[in-house]
Amino acid sequence: MLETKVAQLLNQQVNKELYSAYLYLDFSIYYDEEGLDGFANWYKIQAQEERDHAMLMLQYLQNNGGKATLETIAKPDKELTGRLQVLELGLEHERYVTSLIHDLYEAAHSAKDFRTMQFLDWFVKEQGEEEKNAADMVKKMKLFGDDAKSLYMLNSEMAGRTYSAPSLTL
Ligand code: FEO
Repeated sequence: MLETKVAQLLNQQVNKELYSAYLYLDFSIYYDEEGLDGFANWYKIQAQEERDHAMLMLQYLQNNGGKATLETIAKPDKELTGRLQVLELGLEHERYVTSLIHDLYEAAHSAKDFRTMQFLDWFVKEQGEEEKNAADMVKKMKLFGDDAKSLYMLNSEMAGRTYSAPSLTL
């Protein structure tokens, strides 16, 4: 059985991951309207990954007898004002999600819940990758975003991203 706090945080993380999907769909819409279809594609796929994260959290909770409760998903409330600003918001958001995963890990550790810690190891690693991707995009936009040809190439690079299912299975 999962300890109450661990179960609550797992359940909360389902909502947080679905919110992330919603936020990144909003980013995708922004870039689509800006004519940057590659960035729109990148964030649409990111939204799919976030949904996968939510489903993994939910399945793990259910597999271990936790109570799953779906809460309201908040409307993305960030004002999207520029190509670079949106990427910076993405990086800030990933850092926030990392802090949530770490809080969850800490709760599992205090409860000596080694199974949940092992499950969360994948998410800890994944957050490292997600923060790096977000930081790289910020760096590239700062370097190349003001030049039309370079931005075109950057957009083409983002257009090449394809969806792949998460490597974690339960
Ligand atoms: Fe599911 Fe981007 O963290």
